[in-house]
Amino acid sequence: MVTCSAPGKIYLFGEHAVVYGESAICCAIDIRARITVEEYDSVLIESSLGSTGIDYSIHPYVSEVLDKVYTMSSFEGVKVHVESDIPIGSGLGSSAAVTVATLKGLDSLLGLNLSLEDIASIGHEIEIKVQGAASPTDTYVCTMGGTVMLPQRKHLDLLDCGVVIGNTNIFSSTKELVSNVSTLKNNYPELILPIFSTIGKAALRGELLLAEKDYEEVGKLMDINQGLLDSIGVNCSELSRLIYAARDAGAFGAKITGAGGGGCMVAIADTDKVDDVSLAISEAGGVPLVTKSTGQGVRIE
Ligand code: MEV
Repeated sequence: MVTCSAPGKIYLFGEHAVVYGESAICCAIDIRARITVEEYDSVLIESSLGSTGIDYSIHPYVSEVLDKVYTMSSFEGVKVHVESDIPIGSGLGSSAAVTVATLKGLDSLLGLNLSLEDIASIGHEIEIKVQGAASPTDTYVCTMGGTVMLPQRKHLDLLDCGVVIGNTNIFSSTKELVSNVSTLKNNYPELILPIFSTIGKAALRGELLLAEKDYEEVGKLMDINQGLLDSIGVNCSELSRLIYAARDAGAFGAKITGAGGGGCMVAIADTDKVDDVSLAISEAGGVPLVTKSTGQGVRIE
């Protein structure tokens, strides 16, 4: 029996635009998904969603991982037990964390000898299969941990400021939002491609400001990134309320994190403002979560 865990993630910059090759900055955060795998006489996947065999609608990511691993090493059966502190469909990388933690667990159980690069890359392949389109960002960051600029795979310093997440508790489908953005881009390429490019430039400028720990200016660029995300249709009134509440309470900056359309927003703030920002998010109807960035990627527990 092997237990593995992997972290969730937030985007400081670049979701959606990164699907089209623009730069993004993503940070692993201190909440994790845990997976236990053990030999079994059939395939059994257990989670808060229920107990199933291979099931592409209830457990699409774990089912695809099992299919993929079976092509590398045949096995009789396996039991995969999933527990996650990362809310599902919230933009915090729950599917990427579950995918890479399951891969790491099976790697260890079956002696597959996968490197971290292999796990990140197979994880990406699985996200594409389930979602139709996906950048390598979520699976790479959940595998490696830390703060990472993609597609360059450049590792940056951990964040040295407060991080407050606000959850709208509205389920959002990454697949659907990525597809809506793709339709918008196909209908209006001359408008949407420059927006992606500006988001990528915000990430590149953000990298320099993060190196200087100038979080006040990083926050301003996050606010610009938020305006651009709004313009491509991935905002919603509930997210907007939490974002403005966090800014009004003194956050350096606040924006959607992940696919949008519901799910979570993220604010960065001075550590002595974290409680005010957290309270403001709660008063605006969100569920606040104070967290920090972590260097710990996927690991055996
Ligand atoms: C989802 O967490 C982030 C998106 O950019 C999709 C992706 O990068 O695969 C919306």
